[in-house]
Amino acid sequence: MRMLTIRRAALLGLLVLGVGVLGCTAPGDQAQHRQDEAQKELAARAGITIDTSTGQASGGPAAAGGGGAAGNDPVKLGQAVALQNACAACHTTDGKASVGPTWKGLAGHDVDLVDGSKVKADDAYLKESILQPNAKVVKGFAPNVMPQTFSSLKPEQIDQLIAYINSLK
Ligand code: HEC
Repeated sequence: MRMLTIRRAALLGLLVLGVGVLGCTAPGDQAQHRQDEAQKELAARAGITIDTSTGQASGGPAAAGGGGAAGNDPVKLGQAVALQNACAACHTTDGKASVGPTWKGLAGHDVDLVDGSKVKADDAYLKESILQPNAKVVKGFAPNVMPQTFSSLKPEQIDQLIAYINSLK
């Protein structure tokens, strides 16, 4: 029974791949549309949803087991957002200070600020630190170094970044 399911899944995968290849060689929007429809139908049968604008699959075995794919895990998605935005240029995850403070062990701990006060690094603080880096400046670091442009990230990307930082115990 299990073998059968696996074979069915493999067959489905081949079909999706085939449709994809065909879709790419056929020019025009119509072909793209047909490809999207076919992909959606196959996906529906396999019990997964595919966002045809990004090609990202979620909810099914492809998302859960897809090696390297972030799937729906907010921590992995947050790691990807951090990578895309080059946060690592200034933040390490191994405990060493860089241009900015390390993210290791940050979440849930007290942070010393330049004004001499302390703040607990809860989700609200992390969010504020990403959206308005100058609102609370960490002791030993300079203001106006971290870009203020991350406030244009989508709210869910901010939440994913926070989930990622929270995972770095
Ligand atoms: C150009 C360097 C730079 C980049 C790039 C950068 N940061 Fe920062 N970040 C800093 C500096 C410097 C500080 C400390 C000063 C302050 O509090 O603003 C800081 C502070 C923080 C803090 C508070 C840390 C603490 O110990 O309390 C968080 C959270 C943070 N950054 C998140 C991010 C995220 C998420 C990204 C990428 C989307 C990012 N930073 C990109 C330089 C940077």
